[in-house]
Amino acid sequence: MEFKKRILCIGAGYVGGPTMSVIALKCPEYRVDVVDINPDRIKQWNSDTLPIFEPGLDEIVKKIRGKNLFFTTEIEAGIKAADIIFVSVNTPTKTYGEGAGMASDLQYWEKTALQIIKHAQNNKIIVEKSTLPVRTAEAMERILKASNRNIKFEVVSNPEFLAEGTAIKDLLEPDRILIGSHTDAAGTKAAQAIVDIYAHWIPRKKIITTNLWSSELSKLVANAFLAQRISSINSISALCEKTDANITEIAYAVGSDSRVGSKFLNASVGFGGSCFKKDILNLVYIAQSYGLHEVADYWNMVVQMNQYQQSRFVRKIIREMFNTVADKKIAIFGFAFKANTGDTRESPAIFITQKLLEEQAVISITDPKALGNARIDLAGLDNINYETDPYQAAEGAHAIAIVTEWEEYRHLDYQKIYSSMKKPAFIFDGRNILNHCQLFEIGFNVYPVGQPDLNHFK
Ligand SMILES: NC(=O)c1ccc[n+]([C@@H]2O[C@H](COP(=O)([O-])OP(=O)(O)OC[C@H]3O[C@@H](n4cnc5c(N)ncnc54)[C@H](O)[C@@H]3O)[C@@H](O)[C@H]2O)c1
Repeated sequence: MEFKKRILCIGAGYVGGPTMSVIALKCPEYRVDVVDINPDRIKQWNSDTLPIFEPGLDEIVKKIRGKNLFFTTEIEAGIKAADIIFVSVNTPTKTYGEGAGMASDLQYWEKTALQIIKHAQNNKIIVEKSTLPVRTAEAMERILKASNRNIKFEVVSNPEFLAEGTAIKDLLEPDRILIGSHTDAAGTKAAQAIVDIYAHWIPRKKIITTNLWSSELSKLVANAFLAQRISSINSISALCEKTDANITEIAYAVGSDSRVGSKFLNASVGFGGSCFKKDILNLVYIAQSYGLHEVADYWNMVVQMNQYQQSRFVRKIIREMFNTVADKKIAIFGFAFKANTGDTRESPAIFITQKLLEEQAVISITDPKALGNARIDLAGLDNINYETDPYQAAEGAHAIAIVTEWEEYRHLDYQKIYSSMKKPAFIFDGRNILNHCQLFEIGFNVYPVGQPDLNHFK
């Protein structure tokens, strides 16, 4: 079949895979190739077990893979053939040199640009899909122009706002699509080519076009605002635990104000995921590098508050279990950084488990999708069991810590679980998802986040 346009995506990860699957689904006249330097990942994308779990993703991939959606390691051929190249490689926090621990590590992004220059034979639109520091496109253009080969690359920013766990829904019905470009004729034309892709299924009024720098910076700011809401409510949860106020009631009362809104106001063990922390630290680094220290300090507190919340959760477990967890079995319910994903990057579960192990607890971890990643995250550590069955994980345990808000944890038979546990039995609900009164009546000592605890010791 002759395709109208060829789209290439470099980077077949949590963003590249689902995003391109939906674009291919909605644009059958375009051919979409997704490439990666990791051959195992590509093999998985071509298998029955995709490398990432996302509700709805399997069905889409199975429907169009091999028709207009292809996963390959043929990066060179892909670059040559493509009209539009999305770059969706990882941009983690730098771990070395200048800006270590804060700035974005742009080495994968730069290597991609160099590959593009090397293999391209005609003009192309390069789309920044990865989250990048503001003004990265400028550096990118310098690299791309350095080839002196009479090929024109137009760089467009199109940050991705999908959330893991709801990626397909977010891609099919996004709140908005953001496309940033230069405002001259060539830039506007390139932006239009990207608008044309999304206009296949997204109403035009939801497609926002801006200048390049606004688009790049908007993504960092959006994540900073989202994370800030979580840290804000979590900071108040600490105050609730001192005053017997109830964070769930406060979140409802405060969130009912339409100027505030109710989303992202659940107190918890804190946020995780590959993006929030790295993007805020990047924002902090950028602010610092422009000498805006007050701005940097302001946003840095969002990250610090998140760390405080995780530490507080561990301290509470130790304190309430009579100041020692040595040789006590603690079942960790949920290891993914949030429900409906197997992703454990920056998951609070990692920190919580490590700290409890340092206190010589015996840990039993259960999670419906993330045990494989948990094993990698905790490789080399002893005294850990991995259980697919939560009942097994809790058997003989002194305590359960709910760390991920998996729906199935709400519906377990807690009477049965209680019977199999050591007494006194504790539940630390780090996500406030359980029926605390019911658990208390069963016999548990219950410790939610930001709510009065229910214990039998009083
Ligand atoms: N994960 C999310 O929820 C999310 C949401 C929005 C935006 N983002 C941003 O999207 C970008 C990608 O994130 P992700 O979670 O998909 O990362 P990821 O690590 O899952 O995927 C990145 C992929 O790029 C590949 N890669 C790296 N260098 C390459 C190269 N030179 N050539 C070919 N492939 C290469 C890696 O092998 C990897 O498979 C990041 O900038 C992230 O901040 C992520």
